[in-house]
Amino acid sequence: MVTDLGGFAASTFKRGIAFINLPTTLLAMIDASVGGKTGINFCGLKNEIGVFRNASTVFLDTQFLHTLDRPNLLSGYAEMLKHGLISDHQHLTKLLQFDILHPDLCLLQQLVEHSVTVKEGIVLQDPQEHGLRKALNLGHTVGHAFESHALATHHPVLHGFAVAWGLVCELYLSIKRFNFPRDIFYELQSFVRDHYGRFPLDCRDYDRLYELMTHDKKNTAGIVNFTLLGDVGDIRINQIATKEEVFDMLDYYREN
Ligand SMILES: NC(=O)c1ccc[n+]([C@@H]2O[C@H](COP(=O)([O-])OP(=O)(O)OC[C@H]3O[C@@H](n4cnc5c(N)ncnc54)[C@H](O)[C@@H]3O)[C@@H](O)[C@H]2O)c1
Repeated sequence: MVTDLGGFAASTFKRGIAFINLPTTLLAMIDASVGGKTGINFCGLKNEIGVFRNASTVFLDTQFLHTLDRPNLLSGYAEMLKHGLISDHQHLTKLLQFDILHPDLCLLQQLVEHSVTVKEGIVLQDPQEHGLRKALNLGHTVGHAFESHALATHHPVLHGFAVAWGLVCELYLSIKRFNFPRDIFYELQSFVRDHYGRFPLDCRDYDRLYELMTHDKKNTAGIVNFTLLGDVGDIRINQIATKEEVFDMLDYYREN
């Protein structure tokens, strides 16, 4: 939160001053402090106001995580799982085997560095999200809707938990549309269930969740646009799903 808020303040004060990020949560190390997105929530919607501006330097040191509570550690780890899914099988396997509940922080430092390299590689090619950077939205179309809905109903959830549940939903869509490997999906699904539990979903929430997805700033004219995968590292951006497909996905999530 501090890198988003501090970065936004620095980016707008006197039309922008330089800033350095020293992230102390796993989520900030992996995601929020790199890539140049800064922003604040507005009118109950996530990151509605913000600018792109890179920190001049980012220091990454997992020793800060000694004191971080487990939910916040898991929250950051969800973004690492996403980076594993959009990069390669070997990295994803390492992540699914790593004991994040009792982390070896030296080993985690190596995983963090690799994870940040995945993000940087994408951001460098597409800093302002016109194409490839949308890969980083995997899990986030549904995740942001879950997060906003949870906030609106006074049961807020951590960003990474919503992303983890969103990854399961969007990989289900990836199976339907691109035959994403089922064995990897089931492995990821059970990891998410064991570590993050479940988003409490009710059929009566579907319309509101769908509306939130269409309001996501990455979508236009009431269309829901997903980033999906054909396989690990096989990224398919700009995938439009119908309301029926979205409801089917939510049915799957609720029933499984
Ligand atoms: N800009 C981006 O690209 C981007 C990407 C991902 C997430 N985000 C945003 O980041 C926000 C979440 O940020 P966050 O996960 O860094 O959480 P946070 O800043 O809210 O911190 C979570 C809690 O951990 C505490 N804390 C921080 N470091 C600690 C440490 N080392 N030991 C013990 N406690 C510590 C904080 O005081 C706070 O209570 C969300 O709003 C999300 O939307 C932005």
